Amino acid sequence: MRIDILTVLPELIEQSFEHSIIKRAKEKKVAEVHLHNIRDYSTDKHKKVDDYAFSGGAGMVMTIQPIETAISKLCSERNYDEIIYTSPDGETFKQSMANVMSSYTNIIILCGHYKGIDQRIRDNIVTKEISIGDYVLTGGELAAAVISDAIIRLIPGAMSDETSALTDSFQDNLLAPPVYTRPADYKGWKVPDILLTGNTQKIEEWRFEQAYERTRRLRPDLLED
Ligand code: ADE
Repeated sequence: MRIDILTVLPELIEQSFEHSIIKRAKEKKVAEVHLHNIRDYSTDKHKKVDDYAFSGGAGMVMTIQPIETAISKLCSERNYDEIIYTSPDGETFKQSMANVMSSYTNIIILCGHYKGIDQRIRDNIVTKEISIGDYVLTGGELAAAVISDAIIRLIPGAMSDETSALTDSFQDNLLAPPVYTRPADYKGWKVPDILLTGNTQKIEEWRFEQAYERTRRLRPDLLED
């Protein structure tokens, strides 16, 4: 899978693709992430990428030209499954969305900044708008990093233990059960006895009960879906 991220601040998220599972996914060539600085595509002599909003109002608006030029170039090189714009007014990002997108071949993620982008880009170029939650970030870069991370780790081959993505929180609309490691007794804090029995069937049942109970207590809304 290839992800092209268009931003005015690539430095802000560069490092988020250089560690752990995402780094390994890139090394194993199951994922590629390309960061593009929108400014590089500006034909303005000062490399401007924003301008005042028509009819005034606070804040600058990202102009069409550099974004349209960058996306047209990318689209002339390959087909994209989705051209995503990160925005607080998009559809809320969920694990189910990450699952679907992890099967895509190419996506573009356009990061908003300032007061947003000219509406005509949203109307004519963007195919999907995604929010990572009901709060406003300074720009879409952190949202693009979150979305990319959630997608890449699901691509087959990205994780060393193929089954571990299946036991994540949300994968069955349930939170993940608690996990423990050695020692079995730390100053009297004991690991639940069941986990030391080696009875895999009973342990699986216990894990499911724990996941269900945790979900009922912390996120009952997930059980209603
Ligand atoms: N840009 C600013 N806030 C955002 C959010 N909550 N989600 C996605 N992109 C954003």
